[in-house]
Amino acid sequence: MSRSLVMVVGLMVACDSGSPKVDDSTDALTEATWYQDVGPMLLDKCGSCHKDGGIGGFSLERYEDATPWADAILDAMESGRMPPWAARVTDDCNPPVWFKDDPRPSDDDISLVRAWIDNDIAEGEPLTLDPPAGPGLADVQTEVTLQAPFEVSGDHDIYQCFRVEVPHDQDVWITGLEVISDNDLVVHHALVWNDPENQSLDLVNEEGNYPCSGEPEVWPTDLIGGWTPGAPPIESPENTGTLFKAGASLVVNMHYHPTGNTTELDQTSFKLRWTTEKPAQYTTFYLVDIPFGAEVQPGPHDSDGAEFLIPAGLEQHKETVVLDTYDYLPFDVPVFGVMPHMHYRGVDMKVYLENDDDPEDTCLIHTPDYRFDFQQIYSYDGEISEMPVLKPGGRVRVECIYNNSESNPFMDEALAATGDTSLIDVRWGEETGDEMCMAIVGLVLPPIELSSWL
Ligand code: HEC
Repeated sequence: MSRSLVMVVGLMVACDSGSPKVDDSTDALTEATWYQDVGPMLLDKCGSCHKDGGIGGFSLERYEDATPWADAILDAMESGRMPPWAARVTDDCNPPVWFKDDPRPSDDDISLVRAWIDNDIAEGEPLTLDPPAGPGLADVQTEVTLQAPFEVSGDHDIYQCFRVEVPHDQDVWITGLEVISDNDLVVHHALVWNDPENQSLDLVNEEGNYPCSGEPEVWPTDLIGGWTPGAPPIESPENTGTLFKAGASLVVNMHYHPTGNTTELDQTSFKLRWTTEKPAQYTTFYLVDIPFGAEVQPGPHDSDGAEFLIPAGLEQHKETVVLDTYDYLPFDVPVFGVMPHMHYRGVDMKVYLENDDDPEDTCLIHTPDYRFDFQQIYSYDGEISEMPVLKPGGRVRVECIYNNSESNPFMDEALAATGDTSLIDVRWGEETGDEMCMAIVGLVLPPIELSSWL
């Protein structure tokens, strides 16, 4: 029985309201109302996006906003579409530890919505419901903002890099990052990198930015975190952090999705938490991706050796890429998180570790209903000792399935990205109209500088 159910039942007893309101045969609340039962629960689970001006498209703050959506809400919850969370335990994949912040509603939550609909979507006693402030990052050291508002217009996706100066005059280790999107209408994702040698100084215009692809175009670098609207802050496991040297700046790779008919401004901010004490281990995110050494494996529809080619019209096409770590990770590396990344044609993705000594591969994540619009870093909820381990000489394998046919509900968006009107063969590329098969894998490393061993 959900907490709100208990509360309501308790309240009824206290008021001595007479006839029992719980139907014993089904144990369902037969007089569930919006303001007393369903609204607070939904705002808690859905309110970070379904609020006035939020990315969810409709608000759940008021009864009259929510009622037209009653059946859709139930359907979206029952089917698992909402809240957005793509990771599932499947026959092929049962990660050794599950992930933090799994927002999926309980069966009781779903029953409550059903009971509310059965009760003729009753309003109840009106009161002000506020969306939750969100988890938010605790103990923030500093908040930094893009140097100038950036204009987002046109009808093509924009990838822009921004140099962001961070006041700190000693080496620190970043343990948490929260991205505060300034304009949810156009901010599609943000990748936050470290620029220890301030190479971005030579790349920026007077407003502190430069065009770039999916990468920061500075080296050495570490990915500190990635973010999409609605995603929680990124935190590294206890007693770990990403080295951020005195005087280093950030390079933020913003992916903007223009509205097509308006000019929008964005000046996104970033909250950072760090420690000045050297942690026991370092963290970094590793891109398991073709430009970074991952190799395309032979596939069913290749015509010219192993190639990344998704033929037009195929409803199911699989590409597999493998990153062999050879001997450049000469120690055990626990994996603390993973983010699957494909574009609009991607529908299903699995990421595995292959260690020579292990009889079976370790599945890091399976997203059987992958959606481009709802990507996030999935972080394991456990001690480092419980996390999956990449052993010396091990490999990371990424298996991606694409639907490049009319039955893909996002085909219009995919084709619009390249200006095409009929189905096309698709190859690897960073533009939204191309495809990728990339896993961003969070690694826990010994406390040495990346450049000294990579
Ligand atoms: C991380 C942000 C986010 C959260 C949290 C979220 N939604 Fe959504 N929701 C969206 C976005 C964005 C859309 C816009 C349509 C789309 O892209 O599917 C949407 C669309 C919807 C729709 C209409 C489309 C559909 O799939 O039926 C319903 C209904 C819905 N959400 C219900 C919910 C409910 C109920 C919850 C909580 C249990 C929830 N959402 C939580 C972002 C969110």
